[in-house]
Amino acid sequence: MAFAWTNDLATGNAKIDTEHKELIDIIGQLIAACQSGKGREEMLRTVQFLEQYTVRHFANEEALQRQYNYPDLQNHLQYHAQFRETVKNIAQRLHTDGASVQLLAEINTKVAMWFTQHIRMQDTKVAAHLKQNGVI
Ligand SMILES: [Fe+2]
Repeated sequence: MAFAWTNDLATGNAKIDTEHKELIDIIGQLIAACQSGKGREEMLRTVQFLEQYTVRHFANEEALQRQYNYPDLQNHLQYHAQFRETVKNIAQRLHTDGASVQLLAEINTKVAMWFTQHIRMQDTKVAAHLKQNGVI
């Protein structure tokens, strides 16, 4: 099944949505590459991207939450920290053991599915809070 951006993932905040699309796109490319037998090379590229992305995107999102006193900030910081750990763990294993079906499965569940779930459950709440404060 293709993994791609759908409108139900929109939080309504332009900056957050643009950054979310970047991650959805790169995971979609990885899944497409795996389906055409080019998964191994693509996995390295994707995981390198994820390591940088989690730092950059989460920092941006957290800065907005701080700036506008998002009430659930502490929990949200923890969700992000856990996800960064997941990505770090996957990256380490990719470097030591190489690409595997097991790692791909983890990217699918612990990264792709986690992320879409997080957008739906958490980031939509952040965007609603920002909107209440006049940020679109
Ligand atoms: Fe978030």
